[in-house]
Amino acid sequence: MPSILVLNGPNLNMLGVREPDVYGKVTLQEIETRLRAQAERLGAELFFFQSNHEGALLDEIHASYERHDGILINPGALTHTSYALRDGLASVGLPVVEVHLSNIHKREAFRHVSVTAAAAVGQITGFGALGYELGLTALLGQIRK
Ligand code: DQA
Repeated sequence: MPSILVLNGPNLNMLGVREPDVYGKVTLQEIETRLRAQAERLGAELFFFQSNHEGALLDEIHASYERHDGILINPGALTHTSYALRDGLASVGLPVVEVHLSNIHKREAFRHVSVTAAAAVGQITGFGALGYELGLTALLGQIRK
């Protein structure tokens, strides 16, 4: 059974409270519950990790080497700034799918660039919490192809 690391970066622990007009009212816990139900249907095992610290996310990415089969990640604002996360994702050699709740291309100019997406197979942006489920389906498709 494929093992998937689900990573969430800075401020995503505040979902539900944080700018609901932009990110919706769904909490990260609700996203996890939905994703676990989907993983059970699709036959995958999920490991969740959220941190507001770049280094902690990086440690988790490194630990995924030879432990997990793919990474589903919403790097939060680190999407736009973190060459370290991009290099870390590239270094473990696993398929990566990047997810954003909001459509980053429709927002402020600084959000239009994702430095981490270059280390991903692809990116899903703008579909709210559903994006995580779409991302998991896409990632499993990459692992099972
Ligand atoms: C986000 C978009 C980022 O620009 C922002 O900094 C976030 C959330 C999203 O899911 O839409 O924290 O990754």
